[in-house]
Amino acid sequence: MNNGFDQVVVLDFGGQYNQLIARRIRDMHVYSELLPHDTKVETLRAMRLKGIVFSGGPRSVYGEDAPSVDPEVYKLGVPILGICYGMQLMARDFDARVDLAVDREYGLANMTVRTEGALFKGTPDVQRVWMSHSDVVSAAPPGFALDASTPSAPVAAMSDRERGLYGVQFHPEVQHTDYGEQILQNFLFLICGCEPNWRMDNLIDDAVQEIRDKVGDQRVLMALSGGVDSSVTAALLHRAIGDRLTCVFVDHGLLREEESEQVMSMFEGVFHMDIRRIDASDRFLKLLSGVTDPEEKRKRIGREFIRVFEETSTRLGDFAFLGQGTLYTDVIESGTKTAATIKSHHNVGGLPSEMKFKLIEPLRSLFKDEARRLGEALGLPHHFVWRQPFPGPGLAIRIIGEVTRERLNLLKKADAIVREEVASAGLEQEIWQYFAVLTDLQSVGVMGDERTYFSTVAIRAITSRDGMTADFARLPYEVLQRMSSRICNEVPGVNRVVYDITSKPPATIEWE
Ligand code: XMP
Repeated sequence: MNNGFDQVVVLDFGGQYNQLIARRIRDMHVYSELLPHDTKVETLRAMRLKGIVFSGGPRSVYGEDAPSVDPEVYKLGVPILGICYGMQLMARDFDARVDLAVDREYGLANMTVRTEGALFKGTPDVQRVWMSHSDVVSAAPPGFALDASTPSAPVAAMSDRERGLYGVQFHPEVQHTDYGEQILQNFLFLICGCEPNWRMDNLIDDAVQEIRDKVGDQRVLMALSGGVDSSVTAALLHRAIGDRLTCVFVDHGLLREEESEQVMSMFEGVFHMDIRRIDASDRFLKLLSGVTDPEEKRKRIGREFIRVFEETSTRLGDFAFLGQGTLYTDVIESGTKTAATIKSHHNVGGLPSEMKFKLIEPLRSLFKDEARRLGEALGLPHHFVWRQPFPGPGLAIRIIGEVTRERLNLLKKADAIVREEVASAGLEQEIWQYFAVLTDLQSVGVMGDERTYFSTVAIRAITSRDGMTADFARLPYEVLQRMSSRICNEVPGVNRVVYDITSKPPATIEWE
């Protein structure tokens, strides 16, 4: 898309960090998107293009199915930065040899910069870079300078400055490359001459236009879970097509205290959206009655969610599209076929394969924090979009043993106290997730002069970068103490509070 902003396109050769490159560039306030490697030159020519990045990729440039670019791309007159496979492709296209490396290089390497040039400006002569490749460029192509090398990669960086062609064997987009950010900035601002004037707000205009073009005058249906991703998607779709969007909010009754009211007052009250709240809490509770197995709970909730959604949507008439809050990370995660199922995750993204909708997923290229910023730019409240992650099956998987209305209400109260205390200690930003778990353990206590035999509540608070691994948060004792005494005093049926001090692995974040 080209709405008057400088743009740097990342051509996709299939590497795992590709979307991250586009994202890093957007972080530097230059618009960037990932396009297929065989994007037509005319398409690129029609953009306000300031530069191109060739991404990494898993193939070998001499392989039969090696993805390549139209040679005309090199003649577009904008600088090109080839990363990893992208550099090898450039080397091949300019008649250098690419060989199988003696040692496959994976991980950190010390790189020595050999020439002074714009790409490495402001970075030291020896620096740590992140490598992940099995082929190497043995000598730079004719006309190219050898800019840097590592012990295993004779050509770790090369350039033909006249023609604006740059290649790096390492990955500047990953955090482990010490000066990766500086190198990308140098490419954007010193080499391509981009203006850093793109902001998240501008994404809204582009996305709105794209949605309108795609949807035309048809209608879109959306399942709202109350979570951040589906809420941001709904707000964006609503901005684009107004009342041709209908949202179905399946309230399974397993959300946190007052959350479903907040969702309604925001979308109905403030945004004036066509949103139908289906109070299905009785149905879900009935379905969960007697069920204690964690996977069985997850499966039943997932299936019932779809059933309620389908029943409602068939009553609402015809829709051509189904809106979904799929993020880029969901796209990657669902792509891994080899990973073992630890838990069958349920979120609204897994909706109904047999329904005859075309999908519309406007957040598909965004990372979670970008989606949050987009949500804020769309007018969703800060505290709403920056909420901690919350699992699709809701509080059901934080109740060990059977889910009953009574136990659910108990957990909602305890959880609200945990959240209030974290907030009043000003720790919300530092902790990835913090919540209460209702265990199935009862123990003896004494309240007043009476013996009690009540439930134990566990507090879970963790720090994490991405939820894949986690450590327990070092909450101050005073905060834990306040949580503990408030829960025992204010939540009937609880006489003991424990703090979970396990990391992930070996534990998981949620208890079920
Ligand atoms: P675990 O418990 O597997 O959780 O360590 C990792 C992260 O995922 C969240 N989670 C879910 N999110 N649907 C979701 O959308 C689910 O079924 C689900 N289960 C766990 C969990 O809260 C943590 O952030």
